[in-house]
Amino acid sequence: MEPSTKERWRALPGNEGPPLLGHAVAFFGDPLRFARERQARFGAVSRLSFFGKAGALLIGPEANQFVTKDDARIFSSVLAYEPFMKDFFPGTLGVKDFDDHARHRRILQSAFHRKSLVSYLETLNPLAAEQVASLPTGRVIRFFPRVKDLLLEQAARLFMGQSLDERSRALGKEFIALVTGSASTFRVNLPGTSFRRGLVAKERLWSFLGEQLPGRRATLTADLFSHVAHAESEEGERLTDDEVVGHMLGLMSAAHDTNASAMTSMVYALARHPEIQERMRAECLASGDAAPDFDGLKNLTYTANVFRETLRLWGPSHSLPRVALKSFSFAGHEIPEQTMVFVSPSCTHRLEAHWKDPDTFDPDRFAAPREEQKAHRYLFMPFGGGAHGCLGIILAEMQAKVFFWHLLRRYRIALEKAGRDYDLAYTPMPMPKDGLRVVLTPLAASTS
Ligand code: HEM
Repeated sequence: MEPSTKERWRALPGNEGPPLLGHAVAFFGDPLRFARERQARFGAVSRLSFFGKAGALLIGPEANQFVTKDDARIFSSVLAYEPFMKDFFPGTLGVKDFDDHARHRRILQSAFHRKSLVSYLETLNPLAAEQVASLPTGRVIRFFPRVKDLLLEQAARLFMGQSLDERSRALGKEFIALVTGSASTFRVNLPGTSFRRGLVAKERLWSFLGEQLPGRRATLTADLFSHVAHAESEEGERLTDDEVVGHMLGLMSAAHDTNASAMTSMVYALARHPEIQERMRAECLASGDAAPDFDGLKNLTYTANVFRETLRLWGPSHSLPRVALKSFSFAGHEIPEQTMVFVSPSCTHRLEAHWKDPDTFDPDRFAAPREEQKAHRYLFMPFGGGAHGCLGIILAEMQAKVFFWHLLRRYRIALEKAGRDYDLAYTPMPMPKDGLRVVLTPLAASTS
């Protein structure tokens, strides 16, 4: 008799973890530590389970390539993400597979071409300058909640083309309720739950976007919403109204927590390593007094490497899930159909075989002649890769570079307690448990 799916899964190295929960607590509590321990104990392939569901963890650049490039169309993103996203973000790219996904992506991509990015930058630069100037100085602030607020304002202006009035603040609150609801563990539509509040917020945002859409379609304005409304593939295909609205909610959610987590980690890194902060500041000051344009940002190469190194160590998307639609073999193991498959960029980013002193913050590893990331195309992948690779990769780097260009030219950043380790909770993205307590000091004051 043929072995069952479960029996074939049990033949993989690894174990099943505690009854019922399986590895859920260990994995969601600290996915990086979990993946590193399993890689050290079981190697590149190990089995795991969550709530009785069979899973497998695949580690290393080859695994990242095999799963995300997915030449054989084995891996479903829909089955992995839909349980969490279908109520809140229906129709977004993460809940589409293969041909349907490719069609939507071809259309949406035009909202991320150079011309569109240049117009977003024109909004972003003065806004970031204003936001940075309004930050309190000379006392401890918790950076993570601050940057979340700043990014909400950026989303209102950059994504939706709204000014910072009462209405857009109210929309910001709806958006937070939506994101919180989508991440809630108790997923039952009952009064008083964050799940219910998220659903209500989704309906309100959906109607708001629906009302605004005709205006955005009529004239191309500088915001992402209008660019998505006008998005067109090379073959001339466009999105329906519901598709535009669905993608807008998905894009705002894909951008918000990821950017907030990455920018907070970068502030930690700069505060923890004053010499790196000084070098990055020198680069920003040397670039001239006018806020950098699209090409000017490309010249901020040290800043780019600090951003990359931040994402290598504390990338928001530590693990990427898929579900195998058919059985497959990888690294000498047979993995059965229906297995939930995870690759771990964050563990791959710390493999000693590929990175020198992998736990050390060292932006120059990305610079010539070292360029450690070039050893394998899928070795450094904080933005994923393959068909579902991040659509906002250039926009995210642009948002970070613009923000830090303004920030470092104005302030010196210090940790409240110098030399402190970065103590993270995963929600599921990494965020500092204490919100990251830092002090900003105006440059003139700190040098006098
Ligand atoms: C530092 C910030 C960001 C990081 C680290 C990040 C990371 C990622 C990763 C790892 C994926 C792949 C997920 C998977 O394969 O399962 C992804 C997908 C995606 N990201 Fe980002 N992201 C960031 C910012 C943004 C921004 C600013 C936007 C857009 C405004 C965006 C839009 C998207 C979209 C639409 C997808 C889905 C692509 C698809 O399924 O085809 N992201 N992102």
